[in-house]
Amino acid sequence: MPIRKPVTLHRLREMRALDEKIAMLTCYDAAFARVLDEAGVDSLLVGDSLGMVLQGRASTLAVSIEEMVYHTGCVVRGNRTAWVIADMPFGSYQESAEDAMRHATLLMQAGAQMVKLEGGGWTAPIVRFLVDRGVPVCAHLGFTPQSVHALGGYRVQGRDEAAARALRCQAEELAAAGAELLVLEMVPAVLARDLTKSLSIPVIGIGAGVGCSGQVLVLHDMLGLKEGEPLRFVRNFMDGSAGIELAVRQYVADVKAGRFPDDARHAF
Ligand code: KIV
Repeated sequence: MPIRKPVTLHRLREMRALDEKIAMLTCYDAAFARVLDEAGVDSLLVGDSLGMVLQGRASTLAVSIEEMVYHTGCVVRGNRTAWVIADMPFGSYQESAEDAMRHATLLMQAGAQMVKLEGGGWTAPIVRFLVDRGVPVCAHLGFTPQSVHALGGYRVQGRDEAAARALRCQAEELAAAGAELLVLEMVPAVLARDLTKSLSIPVIGIGAGVGCSGQVLVLHDMLGLKEGEPLRFVRNFMDGSAGIELAVRQYVADVKAGRFPDDARHAF
């Protein structure tokens, strides 16, 4: 099969403009990076979810910048064409824009093409600071795992009118500050669809319905490796699949065709 051209920021913007869905998955090592890239995943997110799925922690809060740099380097070495985003871990961007820039530099030097940070309002000047200095930024709103304790657990965000208005406002502010992508996690599908239509940047949903510009799942969740009941918005693509690469290809095909997620089963 011919090798596709590298996915660039320009290509992601073009996909948004053409209404072509973006398929993203988390990835933490070189072996999976190769499989996901070859299966057509557009973007690999080196998520700080690695604290939970690789390290067995209860939250993402203890993940360090050194660990993120290490896993980013691993993913970059296995990847050829997908767009690589690295999460800025808790504590690496909250103190000051200068501190954020120092930590983003480490991730970019490890090969990340974009960094992701969680939250809205106070993050907008930090996003502007990074973007002005040549660091592409992905914002993350809705349920933001680094704020799990402040949010009172894993709960859907933006349910009532006031919360939806605040979320919309933060998303617009982040886009105006130069964020080039937005991850929306666990928000009502109607709100996510509306935001996707009104923003000019691609919106990647996780538990946010099919109306987003693209989807992301935690790799280990979609491979059915998580213990216990899967979260509502997760589908186990290994069910009925003959192997990992086929499961990932099915995910890509289903996201691209708008077959995943199925709002009746996976959305709020
Ligand atoms: O860390 C992560 O895996 C994430 C996704 C849940 C979007 O931020």
